[in-house]
Amino acid sequence: MKLLQIIGARPQFIKYYPLQMALERYGDGIRDILVHTGQHYDYEMSEVFFDQLGIKKPDYHLEVGSATHGVQTARIIEKVEGVIQKERPDYVVVYGDTNSTLGGALAAAKLHIPVIHIESGLRSYNKKMPEEINRVLTDHISTILFCPTKTACRNLKKEGFKNQILNGNLIPLDFELQSNQITSDNSVIINCGDIMYDAMLLSLKKADELSTILTNLTLKPKTYNLITFHRAENTDDREKLKMLINFVLKHSEHKIIFPVHPRTKKIIKENNIKLPDKIITTEPLNYFDTLLLLKNADKLFTDSGGMQKEAYWLKIPTVTLREETEWVETVQSGWNILYRDYKGTHNPKRQSFHFGDGKAGERIIKIVRQLYERQ
Ligand code: UD1
Repeated sequence: MKLLQIIGARPQFIKYYPLQMALERYGDGIRDILVHTGQHYDYEMSEVFFDQLGIKKPDYHLEVGSATHGVQTARIIEKVEGVIQKERPDYVVVYGDTNSTLGGALAAAKLHIPVIHIESGLRSYNKKMPEEINRVLTDHISTILFCPTKTACRNLKKEGFKNQILNGNLIPLDFELQSNQITSDNSVIINCGDIMYDAMLLSLKKADELSTILTNLTLKPKTYNLITFHRAENTDDREKLKMLINFVLKHSEHKIIFPVHPRTKKIIKENNIKLPDKIITTEPLNYFDTLLLLKNADKLFTDSGGMQKEAYWLKIPTVTLREETEWVETVQSGWNILYRDYKGTHNPKRQSFHFGDGKAGERIIKIVRQLYERQ
C-alpha cells in the first residue's frame, strides 16, 4: 500500500510525528511518501521540527512559499497533482485546515485518489476564517474523516454525513471495520482521538529533559504568562492587533513571554507598534520549548487552535483571543474563556471531556490497513 502524506505548515509537522511513529510499529508493508508543500519555510517554522522530532526527510519538497491564498493554494494543487500522477498512491493523507490541506485534498480528489482527512469535523462557523473554508471543503471531498472528538463527529452529521462509526464515540484499538461500513462512494466518520494529544504525550518527557527555555529566559514556574497570536483576523487589522495587546497587558499581573510568528512580527514592524518592557518577545519556538513554557506558565493568551488544547491537557487557564473557537469542550469546562467573556478569573471544572487516549496514530494506521485489505 502506498500512502502519500501532505504537510506544509508548522502544526502539521507536529501532527505527522505520531503517525510516523505508528507507521514504524504497525505499518509493515505500507510505503509512506512524504510531501512538504513549503508553505512554511523559515528554519524556526519548519526544519527545526524535523530535526527535533526526528521526522524523516520529505520525499518531495514543493517550495510553494508565501503568496495570496489563491496563488498559494493553486501552486499547491498544481504541484501535488504532479506528484500524485507520478506516484499513483492508494490514499492521500491531509492534516488540519491549512491551505496545504485543501490544496492537497483537491488535487487528490480530482484524480480519484481517496482522501484521508486527519482532524476532521471541526467548525468555527465563521466563513471569514480561511481555515474554516479549508476544513469544510476538505471534509466534503474526503473518504475517511478521522475526527478528534465526538463533537467533531456530530458537526459532520449535521452536514449530512451519515456513515458514522459507533455513534461518534472513540473506537476501540482493536476495532474491525465491517465490509458494509466501507464503500468506495460513501465516506466514513471515525473518532480516533486527537493526534496532537499523541504528539504531546510522546514529547513531554523529552521536553523536560532537553529544553532549556526557562533558564534561557530566566523564568521561574508560574511567574509569567504566555501569549501567541498569528491569525489573519487578529493581525491584519492594526487597531485589533493593538486592542488585543492592550487587553493582554491589562489582564496580566506577570511579565508576558511572546514568541512572535513571522506574519505578526512583520505587521508589528510595519505599523511601528511599540511593545512595553513587560512583554518579552522571542523568535518562534520549537515544540519542546513551547510545551515546557506552556506547562510552567501561569496563564495562556492565544489564538492558536493547538495551544488551546495543549493548555487544557496541561491544566493551564487560557484566554482565547478570538470571537469563537472550534474547541468548544475547553470552554465548556471553564479552562478556556473567549476574550470577550473574560472578567479576570477562571473557574475551571473537573475535566470530563476527552480527546482520546494518545493512540490516534495507531487507530489511523490500523483502519487504513483494513480499508485497503477489504477493498
Ligand atoms: C497557517 C495556517 C493556519 C495555521 C498556521 C500555523 C492557512 C490558511 N493558515 O497560517 O491555519 O494556524 O499556518 O502557523 O493555511 N511566513 C514567514 N515564514 C514562514 C511562513 C510564513 O515569514 O516560514 C510569513 C509570510 O509573511 C506569510 C505569512 O507568514 O505571508 C503567513 O504565512 P501563511 O503560511 O500564509 O499562513 P500562517 O499565518 O502561518
